[in-house]
Amino acid sequence: MYKILDKQVLSKNAKMMVVEAQLVAQKARAGQFLIVRVDEYGERIPLTIADSDAAAGSVTLIFQEVGKSTKHMGRLEIGEALTNVVGPLGVPTEIAPYGKVVVVAGGIGIAPIYPIVHSLKEAGNTIIAIIGARTKELLFWEDRIQSCSDQLIICTDDGSYGRKGFVTQALKELLESDKGIARAWAIGPAIMMKMVAETTRPYQLPTVVSLNTIMIDGTGMCGGCRVELDQGWKFACVDGPEFDGHQVHWESVLERLKYYQAEEHLSTQYWESHSCQLEPLLEETQKHEPQNDHSRQNPHGCAATTGAHPQLQ
Ligand SMILES: Cc1cc2nc3c(=O)[nH]c(=O)nc-3n(C[C@H](O)[C@H](O)[C@H](O)COP(=O)(O)OP(=O)(O)OC[C@H]3O[C@@H](n4cnc5c(N)ncnc54)[C@H](O)[C@@H]3O)c2cc1C
Ligand code: FES
Repeated sequence: MYKILDKQVLSKNAKMMVVEAQLVAQKARAGQFLIVRVDEYGERIPLTIADSDAAAGSVTLIFQEVGKSTKHMGRLEIGEALTNVVGPLGVPTEIAPYGKVVVVAGGIGIAPIYPIVHSLKEAGNTIIAIIGARTKELLFWEDRIQSCSDQLIICTDDGSYGRKGFVTQALKELLESDKGIARAWAIGPAIMMKMVAETTRPYQLPTVVSLNTIMIDGTGMCGGCRVELDQGWKFACVDGPEFDGHQVHWESVLERLKYYQAEEHLSTQYWESHSCQLEPLLEETQKHEPQNDHSRQNPHGCAATTGAHPQLQ
């Protein structure tokens, strides 16, 4: 069990959890991720290591509640625990003294870009960071990104904070005015990373993207995370998650992300309706079994509390 040491709501969309994971914290490097299971019936979900503290033996995760597993995780409180934390997984970011670099993050992508910015700064790079969100309320960690950047450009789609417009507009202006940029990173929704790659392509600026493909085992066994690149198929979990954005076949990435939408929707709906009905029953059970680590789970192991629709198991 991996104890939740801290929990904060960062924005309307993002929650932060600091989780005790001694061995992971000692080995974690920028660009790597974990596979987490909320309880023993839960699906395996990949989440980037947004920060780690080897001395404290903890890792920081930031997640957006988009479906059953992330909503379930968002309900856990300090003192409770995640059942499984596997990692660090994936190839770490290639950190080197490149010179002047630009990092672009959108929405929840601000979390995974932070350790990269931090490591790039430590390696002596000059960093221009462009971060964006739909609106001001969705932005977070401005201070952290600022602390490692030489220049920070903030964009909101609605103009409620910083520049009005997409991060790609700010990026294009930057590339027009500054020909000394050596490399770019982009993390965010797949469509945003695609647009960043298209923006940098005419400038032949090497552009690294971190793909959020659907993953299952995270160890190269199932093929669920496969992505098509110019040089062939790769597995995001073991060959990535970072790839050359100019080589990614974006239409196939975007298409594959939608494969299980109907099942995901059904699973979330099922979990939401059944977990609400069973919450009072679970609270009653917890009162009588205060020492039971599994007390949040349905004591009968039925699928209802875990959100796993019987037809989806
Ligand atoms: C390497 C990697 C790192 C990631 N890091 C973060 C992070 O730091 N913070 C964050 O909020 N999200 C991150 N994600 C995405 C996160 O894993 C998904 O949002 C989560 O799995 C959704 O699960 P759900 O049950 O809540 O939603 P669901 O209802 O199951 O799915 C909602 C959407 O999330 C995507 N998704 C579903 N299952 C998976 C899966 N097993 N793997 C990847 N995507 C999936 C699909 O596009 C789907 O449409 C990362 C993904 C990858 C591959
Ligand atoms: S998640 Fe199974 S091969 Fe990558």
